Amino acid sequence: MAIRLGDVAPDFSADTTDGRINFHEWKGNGWAVLFSHPKDFTPVCTTELGTVARLKSEFDKRNTKVIGLSVDPIEDHKRWAGDIKDVTGSALNFPLIADPDRAIALSYDMIHPNASATATVRSVFVIGPDNTVKLTLTYPASTGRNFDELLRVIDSLQLTANYSVATPADWKYGEDVIIVPAVSDEDAKKKFPKGFTAKKPYLRVTPQPDRP
Ligand code: BEZ
Repeated sequence: MAIRLGDVAPDFSADTTDGRINFHEWKGNGWAVLFSHPKDFTPVCTTELGTVARLKSEFDKRNTKVIGLSVDPIEDHKRWAGDIKDVTGSALNFPLIADPDRAIALSYDMIHPNASATATVRSVFVIGPDNTVKLTLTYPASTGRNFDELLRVIDSLQLTANYSVATPADWKYGEDVIIVPAVSDEDAKKKFPKGFTAKKPYLRVTPQPDRP
């Protein structure tokens, strides 16, 4: 069964490169990114995991833990970690889940049988403090993900969780945002003291509200 936005992220216990964890306990009250990769000792996956390790401090700044998963066994994950460091210069600094019986992959619908009967696709789940799924992405094995985009999305998710705003196409942290249509002009004046510009009655932009 596919995981949809707003669903509670399935809980699980698993062996990881950082030891055994219970997912919800490990995640705590912060945000998390759970992402799958198809297979250990494969080229694109090696670059992806090195990239996430390099960006770990950016996820930390956003109170967001990252955790990877594949259906390979824990011994493979541990051996592969050396290659990731060799190739990318970044040592694995977040846990990788071993899911050899595919129980977690199946519960998150990470195996798409028409793509591969055995390997996980490149799934991403961003999970909020309330353990519900805020964003899902699915990429094929052949296409490595853009993790800067993931950080950008987390900025939007965290901002829009706290303010009655939405972010426009290609928005980046610090740029103007859109006041959601459900807020009247009268309320918008109170909620957004920096003011707003109405480009259309339904498209009102205001400076990012959580910045000085
Ligand atoms: C890769 O990570 O390079 C990869 C994994 C599975 C299939 C194709 C590519």
